[in-house]
Amino acid sequence: MSELNNSIKHVASPLATQTLLDGQLVHPVADVRPISLLPWLQVVKIGGRSIMDRGPEAILPIVDELRKLLPEHRLLILTGAGIRARHLYTIGLDLGLPVGSLSPLAASEAGQNGHILAALLAPDGVSYVEHPTIASQLPIHLAAARAVVGSAFPPYHHYEFPSSRIPTHRADSGAFLLADALGAAGLTIVEDVDGVYTADPKGPDADKAHLISETTSAELSKATGTLPFDRALLDIMGNARRIDRVQVVNGLVPGRLTAALRGEHVGTIIHTGARRA
Ligand SMILES: Nc1ncnc2c1ncn2[C@@H]1O[C@H](COP(=O)(O)OP(=O)(O)O)[C@@H](O)[C@H]1O
Ligand SMILES: [Mg+2]
Repeated sequence: MSELNNSIKHVASPLATQTLLDGQLVHPVADVRPISLLPWLQVVKIGGRSIMDRGPEAILPIVDELRKLLPEHRLLILTGAGIRARHLYTIGLDLGLPVGSLSPLAASEAGQNGHILAALLAPDGVSYVEHPTIASQLPIHLAAARAVVGSAFPPYHHYEFPSSRIPTHRADSGAFLLADALGAAGLTIVEDVDGVYTADPKGPDADKAHLISETTSAELSKATGTLPFDRALLDIMGNARRIDRVQVVNGLVPGRLTAALRGEHVGTIIHTGARRA
């Protein structure tokens, strides 16, 4: 056998000699900061319940703001699910459907909201794209248009973790996973409150709730109260590789989203576990 044939068959790889569970073997090879695929991309997650469910009163000003942002930023606008997903969850749970069946039902509402937003931005060249397009053809779409809209829900379907009857990885998790994997310039989560509070500002303890201006995912993980985003996001943020901060802003206040994308501190900034470049 020639030397060449032999070297093709016996590929030299530092990962070939041991199980991938061996941290000592894997860390020196794998613990490098991933490259940024779309370093100029701003990801904006629009809340389903907080914004889309409110109809024209909330949606039209946001659409106007997004339109004005197009010359300044290239955007991946991701929409969440709201009231219709909650209705679907109730029916599915009554029927005993597993969590992996509920996940795509809710995701379909996030997609519907995306279609609504994309239709309103269509005159500006913005269209709705499905998950496989986001996965493999986002750069070409963003070379043709300043923004695209997609569903923020991750396409977990029957791969959703069975830890809860309601899918744990919802729109906020999906938006963050995408932004981190793409090495985006930033992720802004648009809600109907000024940011993250110590308690639900519309709940029974509203009078004691105060706005947290800046915090970390590790700090938020210690509290057990409610949050305006998926709790699973805290774990994901803790293991982030590229997105080192997320800002939660109030989309009902005109100008907040614009200011956030310009790097201003206008909501709650949450620092993740990612190292700053
Ligand atoms: N700690 C908290 N800080 C801020 N808002 C909270 C908190 N806990 C609960 N909320 C509530 O979460 C609501 C947003 O609901 P959410 O389900 O996140 O909407 P969306 O589907 O738009 O993301 C806010 O209007 C607020 O009342
Ligand atoms: Mg939310």
